Amino acid sequence: MILFFYLVFYGFLTALFTLTMWVMLQTVDPYIPKYQDRLSVPGMMIRPKTDTLDVTFNVSNTESWDHYVKMLNDFLEPYNDSIQAATNDACRPGRYNEQPDNGVLNYPKRACQFNRTVLGACSGLNDSTHYGYADGRPCILIKMNRVINFFAGANQTMNVTCAAKKEEDVQKLGEMVNYTQPIVAVKFLTLEANMDHNVECKVNAVNIATTDERDKFAGRVAFKIRVNRD
Ligand SMILES: *[C@@H]1O[C@H](CO)[C@@H](O)[C@H](O)[C@H]1NC(C)=O
Ligand SMILES: *[C@@H]1O[C@H](CO)[C@@H](O)[C@H](O)[C@H]1NC(C)=O
Ligand SMILES: *[C@@H]1O[C@H](CO)[C@@H](O)[C@H](O)[C@H]1NC(C)=O
Ligand SMILES: *[C@@H]1O[C@H](CO)[C@@H](O)[C@H](O)[C@H]1NC(C)=O
Ligand SMILES: *[C@@H]1O[C@H](CO)[C@@H](O)[C@H](O)[C@H]1NC(C)=O
Ligand SMILES: *[C@@H]1O[C@H](CO)[C@@H](O)[C@H](O)[C@H]1NC(C)=O
Ligand SMILES: *[C@@H]1O[C@H](CO)[C@@H](O)[C@H](O)[C@H]1NC(C)=O
Repeated sequence: MILFFYLVFYGFLTALFTLTMWVMLQTVDPYIPKYQDRLSVPGMMIRPKTDTLDVTFNVSNTESWDHYVKMLNDFLEPYNDSIQAATNDACRPGRYNEQPDNGVLNYPKRACQFNRTVLGACSGLNDSTHYGYADGRPCILIKMNRVINFFAGANQTMNVTCAAKKEEDVQKLGEMVNYTQPIVAVKFLTLEANMDHNVECKVNAVNIATTDERDKFAGRVAFKIRVNRD
């Protein structure tokens, strides 16, 4: 009798759980998160990434920078031209790659090609300086997170600029070369050695505010860079 009761009882619980789960799943789109905190401001991050966003190394001490180089190698590997050509679409430049569903779902959506070679001296290809870490002119990659259904820039050109966080540091940062999106590379050409530089990079676009005090990664990222040499 007792056995029978528990059999029915657990049977009922299982059925209820399954039904609830099924109903919930009906309301979920497998490709788009149901709830997004519509920050609408994409976050920014740098590579190489460290917990404290601090890129410090000693030019003459390979061990102090080879982990940065490894991080950049790993990060950029999927952007190899051959892999991009094989997996992503060649999109028309200057246009959003919209893939509307028009009644029928066209999943999976495809991304645009972004060839590693466009990063030039920061591509790490054929590069004896290891992204500049071996000669004290390091590259930092800046990436912007994706926000679904957000049209960054609203059809107007946008760019990323980097500057010293404090006014008085501006000259010490020296010259920079900027490479193109969606990953942007910045190469610091004449960074003053043995000195902390606090840099802030931000995206300039008409529909991205970079002044949110609560989210310090909203459309911008600040990091420290220091090159030690004798
Ligand atoms: C990407 O290209 C680099 C340099 O050409 C090469 O060392 C690496 O093995 C390539 N990675 C893949 C996954 O093809
Ligand atoms: C990327 O490189 C591949 C191979 O070289 C090339 O076929 C393709 O057109 C390039 N794509 C872009 C967007 O430049
Ligand atoms: C690598 O760079 C050297 C010197 O800049 C150049 O002579 C050589 O052709 C390059 N190799 C490739 C595969 O691009
Ligand atoms: C961008 O411009 C194209 C063509 O002018 C237009 O079809 C599209 O709706 C625009 N997109 C946005 C987000 O303004
Ligand atoms: C790169 O951007 C910085 C500002 O972020 C600017 O000072 C510098 O002139 C730019 N360099 C080039 C080559 O465009
Ligand atoms: C970057 O974009 C901003 C706003 O879109 C524009 O005012 C500025 O001139 C641009 N800078 C460069 C170097 O293109
Ligand atoms: C850089 O590393 C070299 C070799 O390990 C060491 O002799 C030198 O003191 C270091 N320089 C600085 C500024 O830390």
